[in-house]
Amino acid sequence: MTVESVQPETPPAVELREPPRAGGGVPVLGHGWKLACDPLAFMSRLRDHGDVVRLKLGPKTVYAVTTPALTGALALSNDFIIAGPLWESLEGLLGKQGVATANGPVHRRQRRTIQPAFRLDAIPAYGPIMEEEAHALTERWKPGETIDCTSESFRVAVRIAARCLLRGDYMDERAERLCVALATVFRGMYRRMVVPLGPLYNLPLPANREFNRALADLHLLVDEIVAERRASGQKPDDLLTALLEATDENGDPIGEQEIHDQVVAILTPGSETIASTIMWLLHMLAEHPEHADRVRDEVQAVTGGRPVAFADVRGLTHTNNVVVESMRLSPAVWILTRRAVRDTELGGYRIPSGADIIYSPYAIQRDPKSYERNLEFDPDRWLPDRVKDIPKHAMSPFSVGNRKCPSDHFSMAQLTLVTAALATRYRFEQVPGSKDATRVGITLRPHDLRVRPVPR
Ligand code: HEM
Repeated sequence: MTVESVQPETPPAVELREPPRAGGGVPVLGHGWKLACDPLAFMSRLRDHGDVVRLKLGPKTVYAVTTPALTGALALSNDFIIAGPLWESLEGLLGKQGVATANGPVHRRQRRTIQPAFRLDAIPAYGPIMEEEAHALTERWKPGETIDCTSESFRVAVRIAARCLLRGDYMDERAERLCVALATVFRGMYRRMVVPLGPLYNLPLPANREFNRALADLHLLVDEIVAERRASGQKPDDLLTALLEATDENGDPIGEQEIHDQVVAILTPGSETIASTIMWLLHMLAEHPEHADRVRDEVQAVTGGRPVAFADVRGLTHTNNVVVESMRLSPAVWILTRRAVRDTELGGYRIPSGADIIYSPYAIQRDPKSYERNLEFDPDRWLPDRVKDIPKHAMSPFSVGNRKCPSDHFSMAQLTLVTAALATRYRFEQVPGSKDATRVGITLRPHDLRVRPVPR
């Protein structure tokens, strides 16, 4: 081997292509109309037009990425950051200094602060709270009564996030207020993000008043929680202590606003995503009784009939697969966005600096090119001998790269435990008037799912 032969070769200059334009645009609005009317169907059809396609949203060009491999490349590349109009409106409502919207060195520092609370080895400490909340949910419900799945799912999601991450005796009453505030804020927030009518949202209409009250209460609650923790002098080993003791790049304590915005930035994605996923899990248990029975059988085999515990989660492989399959078909997070910070490329296509890019985990996870019988609910596709056929990044509900959800282990543990507790105690039936059509908001969830628990 000669010295020359190990010299790195200069990569040949690749001619970058302009991504094709998606069909179906209309004058003035471009593709905005279709995206607004039926975003899931629209996003799901984009791959027919190319791996990367150009969309016109009014006067603006937006790029959509449609293949699993390229969504992975996008999420893993440093050429793209979190930014864009949707993020800006989110910052306006929830705060500018939280981890979900920060970029660069501030984001890295913030991730270092919060990460220990979500590490795999930190999760068992949350086990008793997750167990308590999962069983409390089934104990609250009376056989035969109608369960409002939206409020009940929110309730358990907020209580688990708040009690685990912001520990404290005060949390019981606060968790209830947080539930109400967060559920109302999420209802109004999506509309404000996609239909930015500015001052019209300040008109003294009942819906605006309710939204503003809930948003103010959310911020007030967070201030109260922080103030009480400080006043108590206690420093339990939790996320709030980590935030209160965090320092910035210069070693100075981080400011009050950043502590506040961080708590909001963790509680808000933490509750809406889990709540939506639990709604879909209840829907799945009602619509697929055969799978509900298999979950029950697995739990019984693992527990021998005692109440399911956190320590059992590791043995509940089928229940875990049921959760994953439910998340595949009905992902809470259905759209993600990035912005290019320099002229760059994706899959050989030219992406100019400043371009906004979108992709849809919903479309990726339901794509027939990635999944056989793509619309069938089949938890066994996650068995080890079949999972290898699924393309990389075709199922990344928590994303990958530096913006990956910090809470993947925390989320999967609680979702598996809640599903196990629900399926062991009850079968579920949808009741007349239940509306299980998909409601598109910041997350995807059923419009108004109502079920009746029937004791096993
Ligand atoms: C980020 C999904 C639960 C906190 C993300 C992202 C995804 C995601 C896809 C990345 C967003 C992007 O790439 O732009 C989910 C799903 C959940 C879940 C599917 C449950 C089913 C939670 C929970 C918490 C949480 C329970 C906290 C208690 C966060 C935070 C970020 C994030 C703070 C921002 C991370 C960053 O930008 O560095 N989540 N999440 N998530 N998630 Fe989750």
